[in-house]
Amino acid sequence: MSLRAILASLHGRRYLLMVGLMVLALVGIVSMYSFDLKTYTAPSGTREDTMMQKVRSKFHTYLYKTHYEIHKEDLLDYCSQDDFSDEFVKSAEQRYMNLTNGKTEPVFLAANLYNSEKVLPNMATQFLKLADTLGHSRIFISIYENGSTDKTKEILHRFNDTLNALGIAHRIVAEDTPKPEHIHRIEYLAKLRNYAMEPLYSDGARFGRVAFLNDVYFCQADLFELLFQSQTHGAHLTCGEDYDMWGDGVGFYDTWVARDIKGEGFAKEVHRLSKDDGTMVAQMRDRPFQVQCCWNGMAVIDAKVFRGEDGLRFRRSAKDECSASECSLFCNDLWRKDFKRVVMVPRVKLAYDIEPRNILRTPLFFPADLPYNNPAVEKISFRGGPKKVLCRPLNGIDSHHPDGPQTYVTL
Ligand SMILES: *[C@@H]1O[C@H](CO)[C@@H](O)[C@H](O)[C@H]1NC(C)=O
Ligand SMILES: *[C@@H]1O[C@H](CO)[C@@H](O)[C@H](O)[C@H]1NC(C)=O
Ligand SMILES: *[C@@H]1O[C@H](CO)[C@@H](O)[C@H](O)[C@H]1NC(C)=O
Repeated sequence: MSLRAILASLHGRRYLLMVGLMVLALVGIVSMYSFDLKTYTAPSGTREDTMMQKVRSKFHTYLYKTHYEIHKEDLLDYCSQDDFSDEFVKSAEQRYMNLTNGKTEPVFLAANLYNSEKVLPNMATQFLKLADTLGHSRIFISIYENGSTDKTKEILHRFNDTLNALGIAHRIVAEDTPKPEHIHRIEYLAKLRNYAMEPLYSDGARFGRVAFLNDVYFCQADLFELLFQSQTHGAHLTCGEDYDMWGDGVGFYDTWVARDIKGEGFAKEVHRLSKDDGTMVAQMRDRPFQVQCCWNGMAVIDAKVFRGEDGLRFRRSAKDECSASECSLFCNDLWRKDFKRVVMVPRVKLAYDIEPRNILRTPLFFPADLPYNNPAVEKISFRGGPKKVLCRPLNGIDSHHPDGPQTYVTL
């Protein structure tokens, strides 16, 4: 598959045509076998390839149908762009050369899902594309799901069967255990994240990077960009930016976790995200910048931070510690271990719903048809960072939002 096709992520109708042609080709091959069985010996691998194509197209047809039922739109419309210029495609090929050359260390994809039928058909599709681009042996898919009442479980079972048939390494757990009635929200979320990470904790030496995804709409190109920035900057943590509807348009979503390089919070307003000038300049130019903390719907993490006896884990705050999000605590733990290359990537913009997703795909927010910048001007000069970080605690057992007075935590 060419990079142009991957980037364009296949326009819907063209894709259907392709599936149609594939089915025709399959029928052709099958009938050839049945007419010629006694004399024809298939070259080794052919039968298996055909079987895999069959599995694949069956699953795609299923995802298409499911996605269409929920959204009344074509599954691949979101990621498709018909009119990439040659210049753009060339710049992208150059940029991602080190990811597509078959030498990238395996990527561990992790997600926690709960009633996620809206985003799951897209997520499964993008994961399979990534498997094609990086190589089937270069990814591991780990999903933990609990107690969903929508189609999430059904889709996961079919995804699981598909991955089994394709030989893509994975662990998909779909459980019915309800959330304990009295448990601190962050303690619970940290536990779920650690569940999803468990295959890496127990046998993760071969992985280079972890990509942890929320229930977001994204395209393979988004994951590529985060992996690229992570690799280029030798970053310990690399995030996109997530948005939700706000006022007349969209606003930055993850203000509870994200902290700028001075340890201060981000604003919801896109044009005033941070009071730090350097941060704003980079943001407005769609260039990556260093932050103290981010998560933002999709995070790529250097797998080495999880290794060894004192490897990091997701956790709730200790007794005398400000009760921040498990992601904030993860950042603080990174900084304390001198893993300070934390990078936010404005080019990667994510949403949890269709409406903000569509707004983010307009040229104002999504300049993806412009050739990529020269990576040299995107280089970050990493700094030592803040001594203190803003914390807005969530104390109550049954609280869903921060409920305590804000303080500054010493790093
Ligand atoms: C690819 O990796 C090599 C070796 O680390 C590096 O010198 C080069 O700049 C990288 N190219 C890109 C486009 O990232
Ligand atoms: C996925 O497949 C494996 C192997 O057949 C099985 O043990 C596991 O229970 C399946 N999980 C789901 C969610 O279907
Ligand atoms: C499953 O986990 C989610 C958090 O990911 C939680 O909000 C939800 O209540 C849990 N579902 C059940 C049925 O326990």
